[in-house]
Amino acid sequence: MPVEISIPFENLTVQYGLLREEIHAALDDVALGGKFTMGPFLQRFEQEFAAYTETRYCVGISSGTAALHLALLACGIGPGDEVITVPNTYIATVFAISYTGATPVFADVDPLTYNIDPRQVEAKITPRTKAILPVHLYGHCVEMDELLALARRYHLRVIEDDAHAHGATYHGRKAGSLGDIGCFSFYPTKVMGAYGDGGAATTNDPELYEKLRMLRYMGQRVKYVHEVVGYQQRLCDLQAAILSVKLRHIEEHIAGRIHWAHRYNQLLQGTPVITPVEVGGARHVYYMYTIRAPRRDDLQAYLREQGIGSMVVYPGPVPYQPAYQPMGFKPGDFPVTDAHLKEILCLPMFPELTEEQVQKVCAAIRAFYQ
Ligand SMILES: Cc1ncc(COP(=O)(O)O)c(C=O)c1O
Repeated sequence: MPVEISIPFENLTVQYGLLREEIHAALDDVALGGKFTMGPFLQRFEQEFAAYTETRYCVGISSGTAALHLALLACGIGPGDEVITVPNTYIATVFAISYTGATPVFADVDPLTYNIDPRQVEAKITPRTKAILPVHLYGHCVEMDELLALARRYHLRVIEDDAHAHGATYHGRKAGSLGDIGCFSFYPTKVMGAYGDGGAATTNDPELYEKLRMLRYMGQRVKYVHEVVGYQQRLCDLQAAILSVKLRHIEEHIAGRIHWAHRYNQLLQGTPVITPVEVGGARHVYYMYTIRAPRRDDLQAYLREQGIGSMVVYPGPVPYQPAYQPMGFKPGDFPVTDAHLKEILCLPMFPELTEEQVQKVCAAIRAFYQ
């Protein structure tokens, strides 16, 4: 008999309960206004999210994957180009590169933060390299100064994958404002999630902004004048209105995540697990609270028996996925990613966790190792 999970890995319904009235009011406003696409709620959210990410412009897009794809296209990336990214990301980061016809090139990650290692990036730059696509994994910003210096030296674009990093900062600067374009996912479980798919791209560059706007809606600046081959990838007004509500609460939600992460750190002291670090002037927003655990698979099974959810994010590095088999990578090609892969485990993390739940998780981990 499967054990009932009493402490889930994530829980979206508790938050819905708390925001219910505000969400209902927002949905009512959209429906009563009768404009469901490219309407005032999308426009308002774009302005609010640009302000939040401290960028000049935001373009609401239908998903994080689409935001990455359009960002690469807006930067003129296509067949024959190379884009450097990481092996330990969600497949969407790399698929977006492949959609453009460019070739993904993988640079291994830093052993402390699990983020792209600028030294590994430099070794991968060729005359065909056009861009770097760093991922602020788990909510901890990449060491951007070094990466941006490399980009300047080699005339490369930097497109951020901010899917884990809403509200994360790097030396006081917001994720999404660090590279040429920031790409966000509002998948429901993200730090700020919609009630369905959603995404956005942020930028300070007016030309990139214009291109992104055209690409996300059928290549038009003026209705029915299609200047380029564009896409039907708008963020709809219902999602935008929900996201405006969520944005009003984002700092509370991030504070909750940080609080629970620090409690986990305290309560796991003296156990054999390695807890996450915060380095390089980063504000980690803990989309995931990821430990490194000896005998990880046994620990995960033990937690499940105790009714505690957990996840391995991501269990299969992208270069080893069947879709990229033709590139010929094999386990061992990315030693840091490979070493982490056997040990990483993400513990329950959402703002509405309780002290009792966090204590229970940590007590179970302690008991496992005793
Ligand atoms: C790192 C990363 N990049 C990109 C994406 C793609 O976002 P979406 O699911 O909104 O298309 C995700 C989300 O799932 C992600 O975690």
